[in-house]
Amino acid sequence: MIKKTRLIIRISFTFYLLIAPGLITKNNLQAQTNHARIKLDIEREVGEIDKMIYGNFVEHLGRCIYGGIYEPDSPLSDQHGFRKDVIQATKELNVPIVRWPGGNFVSGYHWQDGIGPKELRPVRMDLAWGYRENNSFGTDEYIDWCREVDTEPYFCVNLGTGTMDEARNWVEYCNIDKGTYFSDLRIKNGHRLPHKVIYWGLGNEVDGSWQMGHKSGEDYGKFALETAKLMKGIDKNIKLVVSGSSNYGGDWIKWNRTVLEYLIEQVDYISLHNYTGNRNNNYYEFMASTGFAEKAIKITEGIIQSELSKTERKKPVYIAFDEYNVWYRAKGEEGNEEVYNLEDALVIASYLNMFVRHANVVKMANLAQLVNVIAPIFTTKEGSWYQTIFYPLALFANNCYGKAIDSYVESPVYQLDEKEIPYLDVSTSFNKEKNEIILNVVNRHKDQPIVTDILSQFRSFDGKATVYEVNGNDIKDQNSATKQLVKTKSLTIDVKGEKVTYSFPAHSYTMILIPMGD
Ligand code: AHR
Repeated sequence: MIKKTRLIIRISFTFYLLIAPGLITKNNLQAQTNHARIKLDIEREVGEIDKMIYGNFVEHLGRCIYGGIYEPDSPLSDQHGFRKDVIQATKELNVPIVRWPGGNFVSGYHWQDGIGPKELRPVRMDLAWGYRENNSFGTDEYIDWCREVDTEPYFCVNLGTGTMDEARNWVEYCNIDKGTYFSDLRIKNGHRLPHKVIYWGLGNEVDGSWQMGHKSGEDYGKFALETAKLMKGIDKNIKLVVSGSSNYGGDWIKWNRTVLEYLIEQVDYISLHNYTGNRNNNYYEFMASTGFAEKAIKITEGIIQSELSKTERKKPVYIAFDEYNVWYRAKGEEGNEEVYNLEDALVIASYLNMFVRHANVVKMANLAQLVNVIAPIFTTKEGSWYQTIFYPLALFANNCYGKAIDSYVESPVYQLDEKEIPYLDVSTSFNKEKNEIILNVVNRHKDQPIVTDILSQFRSFDGKATVYEVNGNDIKDQNSATKQLVKTKSLTIDVKGEKVTYSFPAHSYTMILIPMGD
């Protein structure tokens, strides 16, 4: 028996020696096919990465606000009723800006319901999601929470059922120092200093028939323009976001053009929304699904340029991609609490790659949403845990800054309908202060690693590179309160010279911070 085993080992070893040098096995052929090249040139700048592209969003929906960021009865909350574990997790995500209070919710929201003594605040029916809103969390609570987590507030005004006066009065309440009706009301409510809210959205998804107060592009354009003028009349320093397309079943290109025709002189951003999902359980189709959002960015950039060319305006108008995520399983269900898996995390990394690749025009993006509702952070009564999508977002928000650079990527492809989709989805940037390249690579290949030559076209690599990898055993792996099957692992590698070869594992997202020489 022992003899037989030894013989088998010897035969296998001899077989390996015979075929290994020839690179002719099926696996080796695949290894050759699965070879890529990325050529980096730090002089090929696309644009400065705005930290606001790592933003987030909280809406009065399900357990996002109540039971998410705010839960006064919980032993896990501070004296203001804010969940301390959620504050901690939000800080780990390094969230620069958070949009509030909706979403669909805002189109029926009257902000004055949510200020003053809590016992006097009215309970209202919310027709967006079918909940009762008790208004115990409103403007002042939201600002206090933002200061606590050190993030910028981004308010969206109600251009559904709301009025122009309501919108401008909200700016007055928040941004005027003192001596007017609404600023003095804020002081009476316990906030002596103005909230100084800089970012304001002009309504939410007004192009969608599901929206309370849905309008045509023309009607919205006129209404939003007059509202914008009043809001800027109160505070000329605010930055405004016009509601761009979210309804891709309609003529979304016309919508974007029409609203910019009206508001090109007034706004700083046009918003885009996009959600994706793996409804057909088709992994490769899902991996390519961010392609549509990229097309929407390119088309909208063209419309912005075309509208700018008709004016004297010198200041640019940017894109705020202020809602994006994977959302299809819990859609419309109570709470909309998606449980994410590894493939979802890869898609989120691809969204972020896309924002970096278009850093010249995408200057804000907000993952929808932050807690419990389609979210990276999930709370229970006992604590909170991180969904798979937490990890790519945290890596980008903590590390990916500087100038996005345009790199040449040569990757094996797969066929999807008539298109060739590269297995490697890549973004590259150069952080001058740190003298490092930030390389983000999603390997969409389900079962094969892709060996990649990373070549510098300008200066050499030199030092210890840090590699972060988000991966798991299976693309369907999910996290839970007790198991973190998908998370970030890190290692360091030495780099020197003009070439580094790295093997990106199957179904992974990898970030490499590569130090450059002088
Ligand atoms: O983020 C959830 C919802 O998705 C928002 O309320 C709405 O704007 C979008 O349709």
